[in-house]
Amino acid sequence: MLIMSIIAPPSDMIDYQRQIRSLLEQENAIILAHNYQPAWIKDVADISGDSLYLSQRAGDTDATTIVFCGVRFMAETAKILSPTKRVVLPADDAECSLADSITESDLLAWRAQYPDAIVVAYVNTSAAVKAQADVCCTSANAVEIVASIPHDRDLLFLPDQFLGAYVKRMTAHPNMHIWMGECHVHADISPEHLERKMLNNPTATLMVHPECGCTTPALYQMATASSGSTRQRVSILSTNQMIEEAKTTSAQHVLVATEIGIMSDLRAANPEVRFEAVNPEARCPYMNRITPQRLLDSITSTADEVFVDPATAARARLAVERMVHPELRSWSR
Ligand code: 13P
Ligand code: SF4
Repeated sequence: MLIMSIIAPPSDMIDYQRQIRSLLEQENAIILAHNYQPAWIKDVADISGDSLYLSQRAGDTDATTIVFCGVRFMAETAKILSPTKRVVLPADDAECSLADSITESDLLAWRAQYPDAIVVAYVNTSAAVKAQADVCCTSANAVEIVASIPHDRDLLFLPDQFLGAYVKRMTAHPNMHIWMGECHVHADISPEHLERKMLNNPTATLMVHPECGCTTPALYQMATASSGSTRQRVSILSTNQMIEEAKTTSAQHVLVATEIGIMSDLRAANPEVRFEAVNPEARCPYMNRITPQRLLDSITSTADEVFVDPATAARARLAVERMVHPELRSWSR
């Protein structure tokens, strides 16, 4: 689906987009693009979305090549779900500070302290970490997954401390232990940023991604908003949920706490509304590594192909499939 950005791209970009579309067709390839990708990539992509939606589409596409415009853990997840397909990442330096905040050996040492625990790994992790997990989750389904785990089981949630604190608060799981990792981009959307914006815009609605450093004060706002003591409506949402809410909101002004790549989608979803970033500097360097030439070259390049060691992928697959297919979730000992 082509989503045209509001500002018309320059003619050399249009040329690139034409060449990219033509080569994709020739190679039976599709582009999956995360919502944080720049607008020119989402314009040329077949599908854009959040981590859960892209994982679902990676698992059910008929294309032979998936060009993943995002970061490494996303392309690896697509490869785990579709091992017979060729998956390429058009920027071999597109890593993730959150995924880097826990290693396989960190997790093995942590799990040794709680040998019967269920391990819930956010999808923002390496394939080796996923291979040690019982289930993966995304921001769209973390609450639902943790809520399904019996309260008498220890539960290790990793690696994001802000998402973990939010999920623990929403589920009241009494035995949930949280790894203290963070995404440097979302951690830098701080309580101070939020406080300043809310003070200056007292009637604006607020959308917050749960990886943000300001998630806990946003939850406090949510609680007070529902008791009627403030005029601001607050929602904690994944990036796709933000776009869905943008389409139907009755607000005139929305403050948005997440990576700023999504702002183009929100404005396209509802041009009548003023969407304003809580921290306009919150730009992920890894999500912005792809150039038009890199994207074009990646469609046929062998250098950009993503490989996951087959034994690691086989061990990670159940955890990733449980993230995508609720019917596979069962927690018996
Ligand atoms: P979602 O798009 O799944 O909300 O996740 C955001 C993210 O962390 C991508 O890096
Ligand atoms: Fe990783 Fe944060 Fe960038 Fe997402 S925004 S890819 S979590 S560093």
